[in-house]
Amino acid sequence: MQKLSIQGGTRLAGEVRVAGAKNAALPILAACLLTAAPVRISNVPQLNDVRTMVKLLQRMGVAVEAHAHAVTLDARHVAEPFAPYDLVKTMRASILTLGPLVARFGEARVSLPGGCAIGERPVDLHIKGLTAMGAEIAIESGYIHAKARRLEGTRIFMDTVTVTGTENLMMAACLAQGTTVLENAAREPEVIDLARCLVAMGAKIRGHGSDVITIEGVSALFGVEHAVMPDRIEAGTFLAAAAATRGEVTLTGAPVESLDAVMEKLREAGARIEAADSTVRLSMAARPKAVSVRTAPHPGFPTDMQAQFIALNTVAEGTALVTETIFENRFMHVQELRRLGAHIDIQGNTAVVHGMEALAGATVMATDLRASASLVIAGLVADGTTVIDRIYHLDRGYEHIESRLGELGARIARVA
Ligand code: EPU
Repeated sequence: MQKLSIQGGTRLAGEVRVAGAKNAALPILAACLLTAAPVRISNVPQLNDVRTMVKLLQRMGVAVEAHAHAVTLDARHVAEPFAPYDLVKTMRASILTLGPLVARFGEARVSLPGGCAIGERPVDLHIKGLTAMGAEIAIESGYIHAKARRLEGTRIFMDTVTVTGTENLMMAACLAQGTTVLENAAREPEVIDLARCLVAMGAKIRGHGSDVITIEGVSALFGVEHAVMPDRIEAGTFLAAAAATRGEVTLTGAPVESLDAVMEKLREAGARIEAADSTVRLSMAARPKAVSVRTAPHPGFPTDMQAQFIALNTVAEGTALVTETIFENRFMHVQELRRLGAHIDIQGNTAVVHGMEALAGATVMATDLRASASLVIAGLVADGTTVIDRIYHLDRGYEHIESRLGELGARIARVA
């Protein structure tokens, strides 16, 4: 199993280009199922989750041509609207095929994702929404079996803000008969990117980016060329790493407008940040100050940046309260950070992080994607060598992380 070995203690300095967003690419790839015409997606990040989604689509019969960061998908012939457990269990985002399949083919069989390291993560709102649109849904042997002659538009209120739930129902509604109104919809930038792609395919969507999205169904969608938005979580991770190492980093191709909550907190920690067009420059002259954060749906502070901010706070001056409100078990990184000498107490859904002058390298284990990112940040600031085991989690969501951090001066290597 591959590991990362990090010699801590170097400041990150230099320039890095932000990759395409994983959580925008995944629903956009699934959206190819909505049309019989070819769809060409560019700025697709080279990540394990993207490869899993492509494999899943191929298994259904979608023809795929992939070149570096571009993928052309042709879902003219879909042999089987089926997402098997072996792929869904490695990537929950496979559930994003459910809405498009039932909308275009009138049938889908998609494995239930089950729980995962960060929490229970039910998909009841995806199922309720499709049921409200007229799908008949049965859960059989761990599979969601959905059938519908043609979905019908309706008003759907989601009692929890769900990102992939909003995306699934928005995609399904594109081909429904009549108008669907999604209330309490997710406002995440990735939902907006998906909506833009769907609109370019001929969908009639309004209100994306607000909490009420209205979709007027059409009978068919067309092919499209779409470039995936840059990854705000990858960008935020580089910025947090730069701040923790008291570095000076420039991000190019950055999604500046979707980084507000993260940049505000980094400024509070003492970073100087200039952001314009698609460039963000961060410099950190002194030890970071502790910053408390509370995760919330967009435009609040993203849960996908919580672990990285715990890492930043472990070496900050003062004590920070980091509260997780989205997932019930997203503090798995805390016990690994403690192995590096971090002083963190957990009180319910809050991590109380007492900043230390220094951390000391150790062997640690990655438990999920963003937890891994926090261990990388801690390893960059710790004295001595940190070895991170199980980095397949990291490869699900960060493209060539070691070479890109290496270009910023980190002493980091992948070892067998
Ligand atoms: N929820 C329900 N019922 C549902 C759906 C969600 O109760 O039917 C709950 C969840 O259990 C959770 C909350 O609603 O407590 C929010 O979950 P959401 O559905 O928004 O999460 P998701 O769509 O499964 C996406 C991202 C996650 C990110 C969350 C929150 C993708 C592919 N994944 O997950 O990304 O943490 O939104 O922003 O878009 C990551 O990239 O590391 C990652 C985990």
